Amino acid sequence: MLLCITKRNMIDMFRPVRGMKDLFGSDIDRYQFIINKAIDIGKKYGFLHISTPILEHTDVFKRSIGDETDVVSKEMYTFEDRGGESLTLRPEGTAGVVRAIVSESLYQNLPVKLMYHGEMFRYDRPQKGRYRQFRQLGFEHIGEKNPYIDALTIAMGNEILHAIGVFDFRIFINTLGDDETRTNYTKALVKYLSRHKDSLSKESQIRLDKNPMRILDSKDKMDNEICSMAPLIVDYISKEAGNYFEKVCMLLDKIDINYDVDNFLVRGLDYYSHTAFEFKSIKEGSQNALGGGGRYDKLLKMFGGPDVSGIGFAFGVERLMLHMQKEHFDKRIKTAVIPVSDNENDIAFETLISLHNAGLNAEIILGGNISKKMKHAHRQNCDIAVIIGEDEIADNKVTVKFMQQNDIDNKMKSIHRGVLIPFLKDAYNI
Ligand code: HAM
Repeated sequence: MLLCITKRNMIDMFRPVRGMKDLFGSDIDRYQFIINKAIDIGKKYGFLHISTPILEHTDVFKRSIGDETDVVSKEMYTFEDRGGESLTLRPEGTAGVVRAIVSESLYQNLPVKLMYHGEMFRYDRPQKGRYRQFRQLGFEHIGEKNPYIDALTIAMGNEILHAIGVFDFRIFINTLGDDETRTNYTKALVKYLSRHKDSLSKESQIRLDKNPMRILDSKDKMDNEICSMAPLIVDYISKEAGNYFEKVCMLLDKIDINYDVDNFLVRGLDYYSHTAFEFKSIKEGSQNALGGGGRYDKLLKMFGGPDVSGIGFAFGVERLMLHMQKEHFDKRIKTAVIPVSDNENDIAFETLISLHNAGLNAEIILGGNISKKMKHAHRQNCDIAVIIGEDEIADNKVTVKFMQQNDIDNKMKSIHRGVLIPFLKDAYNI
């Protein structure tokens, strides 16, 4: 039987798990470019790094995100370990970070501002921009409840998107109010939805008793239709929560951040109160939610920490990679050092090392004739070829060829070996 397994079968057998993909080459470059830019901006706003485990006790997510959310009820990778403990691969970053702030007593010096990036897992239906393993880049600001902080948090997200070359997006914000708001609103919502109970999906009928606000987040068409006529939270907002939200909006206006108030925005996780926001691409096609977040008042206390509020957001990094403008991405210029024949290998080797020592990206191309080597350099996406032949060595020169240059007069230059590095640095613009 074993003999029947063909090479094709083997390749199929060992594909990545559905919804998970290998990242390599320029994807990793882009990933790192995004993370580096975001970290620089995070530092400017006073954020420090945190890295929490990918696995947490299942209750960390169940209790914070909420049993009735899609994330907890349908999308978590949960399993028993060999000791019989229920563990879950993190579906998002906030719960673990807040758990760590409490476990490590980081709350003793408030405010705490932490940023993180890494893999998250959700058993979602895979499609372009939606994966079962994806990466998030997140920020959590704990211990300061103030509209200025909410506006600053949104401003930071806006700044990161611009810095990485994502321009076609809009910011949507809403308020989910405080306890008073929620109590009054939930009553009104249940009253309205109960009148349509029979038309609601089975899942929403159950949620009507357990967590009615989650029905607003349903993916069912009929549920959506019913919810489009449902009472809005904004009509039940307490005076205090209303003033808070007004101030956030006013501050965003003051710093010229464009946003739309979306009274239907409820977010897919239970822990939010007050300000909630999303960054959405306005491009058609793939998943348009680039990132989202909001304020959470009860999470720290829920994990046994102090009764302080936090606010944060996370971007989906794969989605940022899909939506960033290519020309904005720091393209690394690469040089190929090409000896015409084996006789020039030693000089080419020394030249390569001197380019590396000067901090330039360069590769040596060996083997085959010159035309094969030039083709190889093209395939490697080299921008510049430094060609070293018998004549060049005799004159102590090299021939520099700009691979992407169409203008014949500027395509080739003969350069003295001693000035090659400043010449290339000028070309690299460094
Ligand atoms: P979230 O809206 O569930 O919020 O996820 C944040 C972002 O992660 C989404 O906007 C999206 O870009 C990306 N994302 C979510 N699911 C997938 C997926 N299956 N494939 C690819 N990308 C995905 C949170 O996770 C909150 N923890 C954000 C937060 C931080 N709130 C407060 N602090």
